Amino acid sequence: MQIAILRERRPYESRVAATPDTVKKYKALGYDVLVERGAGVRAACLDDSYVAAGARIAATPAEALQSADVVLTVQRPLRADEGEDIVGLLKPGVLLVGMLNPYAATQDLALYAERNVVALAMELVPRITRAQSMDVLSSQSNLAGYKAVLEAAAHFGRVFPMMVTAAGTLAPARVFVMGAGVAGLQAIATAKRLGAIVSATDVRAVAREQVQSLGATFVMVESDETAKAETTGGYAKEMSADYQKRQAELVASTIQKQDIVICTALIPGRAAPRLVTEDMVRSMKPGSVVVDLAVEQGGNCALSRAGEVVQAHGVTILGPRNIPSFLPIDASALYARNVLALVTLLSAPAGGTLSVPWDDAIVQDMTLTRGGALVHPQFQTDVRP
Ligand code: NAI
Repeated sequence: MQIAILRERRPYESRVAATPDTVKKYKALGYDVLVERGAGVRAACLDDSYVAAGARIAATPAEALQSADVVLTVQRPLRADEGEDIVGLLKPGVLLVGMLNPYAATQDLALYAERNVVALAMELVPRITRAQSMDVLSSQSNLAGYKAVLEAAAHFGRVFPMMVTAAGTLAPARVFVMGAGVAGLQAIATAKRLGAIVSATDVRAVAREQVQSLGATFVMVESDETAKAETTGGYAKEMSADYQKRQAELVASTIQKQDIVICTALIPGRAAPRLVTEDMVRSMKPGSVVVDLAVEQGGNCALSRAGEVVQAHGVTILGPRNIPSFLPIDASALYARNVLALVTLLSAPAGGTLSVPWDDAIVQDMTLTRGGALVHPQFQTDVRP
């Protein structure tokens, strides 16, 4: 069977779904591998290195896809109405694996079903121990949290650690991390390593111990609700209006003492919670920096704009788009290994053929379409053909 690796086409995407290292593993599993020309260039994976790993190079997406049984992508393939009809090149019955953005790209789900594409969304890998090696949200969020702090430092006109010099002492920066999930915890660890005084907040009470174990201070609104704020999958729920009001008061009093705010709060399938208002930004010291990693889900900060650097009330507000892509080499290496772990689960032990365990909980959770139908219960009501 043949695996195709496509070049990503979006300007904000520098990653690639397979590296020469994972291509070698696909070859060892017995697959034939075709890589679209230039697919890995932005992640420092040159065509020659794919060839050395045993792949063939396809000059066009049509050539890569014409006999492909499995297609690996980072982001969902483009539709005809998005400038280039990559979905239209997928042959019926093909297995498509990528971050397919099922919550937002509902139109695509109908298209996959109509075209009999078997679509597996990497974002839907369940957060269970057995699936950790396939967990793209963790592998990419971890890098996002790290890079967010470095971006903040690059836009901050002061230093992070305390510095005692002959010319005087510089105070350490105060960093406040909102949302202590995977990205938030890595942001805390990175800011601590740079010497900042770090505090963090979350709505899930279990986050307290994780934050404190990294040497940061945990602040949160205590309430009966926080004990139930976590879903069985470990995600946050949307909080009540009363909780949100009390949380806003706590954030307002905390934020004015901060130099850097890193926003990472998300609720799967919903708009990001709005946690930092314009008044709160106004209350910060001039020269402070806010990094809003939730900007593409609507933003935690009222003033952030996707892909832009906003200056307001003396504060710099960054809304980095697709921040894992700012670290394309490592982000691709980890993503490619996540995908390899999945494809290995879907493959026969040898011979380069698929043998998909359709009743496996991991596969069930991530299968959007199969047999010409939308099969994922969570998205069925959302699809408008
Ligand atoms: P996420 O990216 O969905 O959200 C980021 C953080 O924002 C979460 O900690 C969430 O609680 C927080 N948040 C949401 N609304 C908020 C609000 N109004 N105010 C403040 N904070 C708010 O979460 P992520 O990073 O994907 O992690 C979700 C969970 O999955 C965590 O419990 C994590 O420990 C768990 N996890 C489990 C794994 C496993 O068992 N294999 C692997 C990775 C993560």
